Amino acid sequence: MKYRIDIERYSPEKKSYIESFYYETDSETETVANALAFLNAKSNLKNADGQDAEPIGWECGCMQKKCGACAMVVNGRPALACDSRLSRCGKVIRLSPLKKFPVVRDLIVDRSVMFENLKTIKLYFEDNADFGEETAGIAYEASRCLQCGCCLEVCPNFIAGGTFTGMASAVPVTRLFAELPAEKIKELSKLYNKHIFEGCGKSLACRNICPAKIDIEKMLVNSNAAAVWKRVFRHQEGVKKWKNQDLK
Ligand code: SF4
Ligand code: SF4
Ligand code: FES
Repeated sequence: MKYRIDIERYSPEKKSYIESFYYETDSETETVANALAFLNAKSNLKNADGQDAEPIGWECGCMQKKCGACAMVVNGRPALACDSRLSRCGKVIRLSPLKKFPVVRDLIVDRSVMFENLKTIKLYFEDNADFGEETAGIAYEASRCLQCGCCLEVCPNFIAGGTFTGMASAVPVTRLFAELPAEKIKELSKLYNKHIFEGCGKSLACRNICPAKIDIEKMLVNSNAAAVWKRVFRHQEGVKKWKNQDLK
């Protein structure tokens, strides 16, 4: 199959333009990331018009859906390049950078605002965590977040630099709600309410976009229960149950 890959290219000098490339493979499993890596490996890269082209700017770390670095917009939908099979993309594939972050070059964006947001809501343990068998599942699910930013791309309420930090921080913070001791949850709840609960429209437009297939709705429900309704999932007398916490 011969694919035409239309790439939204950008550099501060040339601004934004579309450049097309051809890539041919019979493999059913090759991905957008494989195609970009192959094109960039050429010493004399030519575009679809046969003209010399600059190497394509894009990021990757693992090629295994583990690092989130290759997030971009594939045919109008945010996705990981290493998780986007060419055979499912159609013969003409459009690649653009994520739009919620400043573009550095071509498909590379500066996602540092997302990492700063994790500091804003204090997404770290200062003391020992309260690990429990019953919270392990929630904590594990929350910790699978890749910080790829795909959920922020589709969120109508997220603006980089705004107060609302979006699902990319709402998901990992669920781990803290599951494992922090009760007295620490009160402080975290204030930050959660300000930066997540009050800004989230609960539309769940982000629900089916996560490349890590995290159950976003479940994470949100757990965190809302802890921060807003003061209920935390805890082991109690050997029975799994929601336990009211006196956090007032
Ligand atoms: S539920 Fe809606 S507002 Fe909330 S993070 Fe998801 S897309 Fe954004
Ligand atoms: S919740 Fe999913 S889509 Fe959002 S940043 Fe984490 S891994 Fe990416
Ligand atoms: S390169 Fe790591 S997720 Fe795609």
